[in-house]
Amino acid sequence: MRIVILENAQAVAEFGANHIVSLLNKQPNSVLGLATGTTPIKLYKELIAANKNGHVTFKNVTTFNLDEYLGLAGTHPQSYRYFMNEQLFDHVDINKENTFVPDGSAAIPTAACEEFENNIQEKGGIDLQLLGIGRNGHIGFNEPSSSLSSRTRVKTLTEDTVNANKHFFTEGEVQPTLSLTMGIGTINEAREILLLATGSDKAEAIKNTIEGPIAARCPGSILQMHQHVTVVIDKEAASSLEDIAFYQHIERENKRLKEGTAL
Ligand code: GLP
Repeated sequence: MRIVILENAQAVAEFGANHIVSLLNKQPNSVLGLATGTTPIKLYKELIAANKNGHVTFKNVTTFNLDEYLGLAGTHPQSYRYFMNEQLFDHVDINKENTFVPDGSAAIPTAACEEFENNIQEKGGIDLQLLGIGRNGHIGFNEPSSSLSSRTRVKTLTEDTVNANKHFFTEGEVQPTLSLTMGIGTINEAREILLLATGSDKAEAIKNTIEGPIAARCPGSILQMHQHVTVVIDKEAASSLEDIAFYQHIERENKRLKEGTAL
């Protein structure tokens, strides 16, 4: 795991966006796994700006989103499809036919999950998966106790997750308590993972993800098994880590190696 600790949420967003822009410039037909939630919003703003300035194009990019609320059609303002259109897709030169979000309004959700998995395979797998993390360590909507080898399926949300996402819904609006989510096994098959977290709310989840045992209790901890993960966090999200000084030392040493001044 590469652990990058930055000053604040804006720096985290810029680092994440630059990482994605350089991947797309190297490989313009990349398959991106995308995330919703508050955390990636700033990063999407940076990507929109980069696209408008001509620094990157999404013309040949395919995307797969992590999850969707079961029971919400893509036209519902609180659906994750709607969120992605508003926060990114409507503002860049992507072909919407190449953007996949699990279908929350599917008559047979299990069939929709299977189709989603098949689509990922058909597109050759995910090159880079962007992740946020829940306060309880969930990735996608894989709540604690999710199988660490799970595939895309229907998952029940914890009360804590429902509460954490309440602010997206207006009063009186029905908030789903079930979801369709990429499985932990599906996520971990992405060739590269970029996890972003900001704020002290995420400190515990980040500690368990990086320093805890690999356990279904903290779904993010499975990333310890992945060979190419970058965790980008602000100081607040890093505040419970025991080995901060070592992670910062590694970053400095890697910089020296890159500059050729280490040996
Ligand atoms: C939701 C999403 C996750 C996201 C998490 C954190 O539950 N399903 O993919 O990572 O929330 O969200 P936020 O960035 O708003 O803290």
